[in-house]
Amino acid sequence: MKTAERMDCFKRPAFADVKAYAAPGAIDFTLGSPDIAPEPSIMKAIQEAAGIPGNYRYAVKGLPALVEAVRVWYEKRYDTFLDPEEICLLQGSQEALVNLPLVFCNPGDGVLIPNPYYPVYEQAPQLAQARVLYMPLLAENQYLPDLDAISPEDRKNARLLLVSYPNNPTGATAPDWFYEKLIRFARENDILVIHDNAYSELVYDGKPGKSFLSFPGAREVGVELNSFSKTYGMAGARLGVMAGNREAVQAYRELKSNLDYGIFLPVQYGGIEALEHGGAAIPETRKEYERRRNCLIAEFAKAGWVIPPCKATMFLWAPVPSGMDSETFARLLAEKAGVLVTPGIRFGSQGEGFVRIAMVQDEDMIRKAAEQIRASGLFRR
Ligand SMILES: Cc1ncc(COP(=O)(O)O)c(C=O)c1O
Repeated sequence: MKTAERMDCFKRPAFADVKAYAAPGAIDFTLGSPDIAPEPSIMKAIQEAAGIPGNYRYAVKGLPALVEAVRVWYEKRYDTFLDPEEICLLQGSQEALVNLPLVFCNPGDGVLIPNPYYPVYEQAPQLAQARVLYMPLLAENQYLPDLDAISPEDRKNARLLLVSYPNNPTGATAPDWFYEKLIRFARENDILVIHDNAYSELVYDGKPGKSFLSFPGAREVGVELNSFSKTYGMAGARLGVMAGNREAVQAYRELKSNLDYGIFLPVQYGGIEALEHGGAAIPETRKEYERRRNCLIAEFAKAGWVIPPCKATMFLWAPVPSGMDSETFARLLAEKAGVLVTPGIRFGSQGEGFVRIAMVQDEDMIRKAAEQIRASGLFRR
C-alpha cells in the first residue's frame, strides 16, 4: 500500500535492529523504558478508580484536581506560580512533541532542534512539512547549542525552538545562564520555545533539576513539557503535562480537543496520587539510577571502556573506540559481547562517534555485561 510522502519521516535509512546481530539472551541497554515500578499507592489509586463505572466516560477537560495538583507541584518544586489556564494535561509528553509543529508551523516554517536529538524532535516538524534547522550539541560546549551561531535567515524562518535538559541522549544538564540567554534569544527573534523536561527528577550528584518556567520571562516565550513516565515509573499509563505560555497552551488545546477525548480517568487519579504522595519514592528511584551509573562506569572501565559520567537522565553517552563508526561498534558489541546499545548516529549526524546506553539493567546485569565485554576482547590494547 502506498502511504503519503509525509510518512517518509519515519523511514530510517537502512538501520538494522541491533538485536538481530546478537544471540538470544543478549543484555539490552537500548530502550529507555523504565524498569522501576510505580509506588503501590499509585497503582492502588488507578485500580480503585478503574472499578468505578462512571470513570469510563470521556474525559475531555481533565480532572480539575489533577490540574490543581500540577499547579501545586510547580509551586512547591520550582517556586513557579501557574494559572490553571496555563496547564494542559497530555497523554504523555510525546503527544505534544508530535503535534506542536502542526499547531504553530505552516509548511516551510523552521523548527530549531538540537543534534543529537530525541528522534521525534526531527520527525514531528517533518510531519508538519516544516523545515528542520539543526543546532549542534558538542562535547566542548557541554552539549549546549550555540545560539549565537544561528544564522539571521534561520532566526527569521524559525517558529519553534526545541531544547531539552536534562538531555537525552547526552545526559547533559543546562546552567542558569543558558536558560536566561535562551529566553532573550526567543524574545528577540519571536520564536516559541518548547522545553522538554522529561527527566526533571533524574539529576545526580546532589544537584537539583530545574524548570525552564522558573526563569523570569520564560512564560512569555515558551512552554515546558513534563512527564510522569520516568519520575513515577508510569510510562505505559501515558500521562504528561504542558505548561507555560497561555496562548500557546490554548492553541494546543484546540487541536487536542479534536484529536482525542482526554486521558482515561483512572490514570488521572493515579496522577493525582503521584503528585500528592508519590514524591517519597523519587529519591530512591534517583539513587537507583545513580548507583547503576556509577557501577556501569566502574565495571566497563575495568573491561577497557572508559565512559564519562552523565549528569542526569537514565542514559550514558559513551564514546566508541577511535577508528570505528557507531553502527559498526554497536554491531560488534552485540555479536562479540552480547551487549545491546543504540548507535549514536540514530540520534542525528552529531551522534556519530557515540553510542547511547540506557541504564535499564540492574547492577548484577551490568557486571555480567562488563564481564562479557572484557571477554570479547573488543577493548584489548
Ligand atoms: C527526551 C524525551 N522526551 C519525551 C519522551 C516521551 O515521554 P512520555 O512517556 O511522557 O511521552 C521521552 C521518552 O523516552 C524522552 O526521552
